Order: sequence, then structure tokens, then C-alpha cells
Amino acid sequence: MPYLKAVWDETLCLYPQIPVNVRIANKMTYLPHGGGPDGLSPILVHKGTGVGVSVYHMHRSKALFGEDANSFRPERWITGELEKVGWGYIPFHNGSRICLGSKF
Ligand code: HEM
Repeated sequence: MPYLKAVWDETLCLYPQIPVNVRIANKMTYLPHGGGPDGLSPILVHKGTGVGVSVYHMHRSKALFGEDANSFRPERWITGELEKVGWGYIPFHNGSRICLGSKF
């Protein structure tokens, strides 16, 4: 069963069924990183601005999943190497509108 769960996670990781999402800022806010030449500065987001999130690309980030991020390797979910992946893996997205069926 742990290996079956790993295959499930790896499948949802490489092929997320809802690969992009957009949120509209309902007040002025900022993203903590992503701005400036080195990408480490905050980004101002004005009220009413849409912010797109590509879960597909994040799930294939080598910084998060390692050099073989694009390979189908379920083992990565049972070796402990993704213990700290946190919000780097969000097949059901996250926050107040997270998929209500995610625990099914
Ligand atoms: C592998 C299966 C599924 C995947 C990958 C999936 C993924 C998602 C994603 C990405 C969202 C959008 C969340 C957001 O906007 O932040 C969502 C929303 C939702 N999902 Fe799923 N889902 C799955 C199965 C299910 C099932 C089985 C149910 C119900 C039994 C369900 C019910 C919902 C509902 C009600 C929402 C809307 C939540 C809201 O807008 O507040 N989903 N799902």
C-alpha cells in the first residue's frame, strides 16, 4: 500500500489534473518572493489583479523535486527526500478553496 500511495502521488505530481489556477486579489497585497533581478524581492499585487499559478511547472521544479523532477519515479515519495516539500506539492491546490474531495 505505501508503494501504491507513492505511485498515486507521483502521478498527481507529474500530471496534475488541474495544472493551473488563478486568484484575483481582493485587496492590495504582495507576493513575498519572485521580484527583482535575483527573484528574491517581493512583488506588489494591486487589488483586482489576477495571479496565475502553474502547478504543472512547480511540480517539475528541480529545486523542489531534484534533478530527475521530470522522470516518473514513485520511490521519491517513500525515501523521505520530499519530507519538506510542503506547498511545493499541491495537486488539490491549497488554502481556503482546497479541493473538498482531497481526502477521498
Ligand atoms: C484526483 C482527484 C481530484 C483532484 C486532483 C482534484 C483537484 C481539485 C482542485 C485542484 C480544485 C481547485 C481548488 C482551488 O481552487 O484551490 C478542486 C476543487 C474542488 N474539488 Fe476536487 N479534485 C479531485 C477529486 C474530487 C472529489 C472526489 C470531490 C468530491 C467528492 C471533489 C470536490 C471538489 C470541490 C467541491 C471543489 C471546489 C472547492 C471550492 O471551490 O471551495 N474533488 N479539486
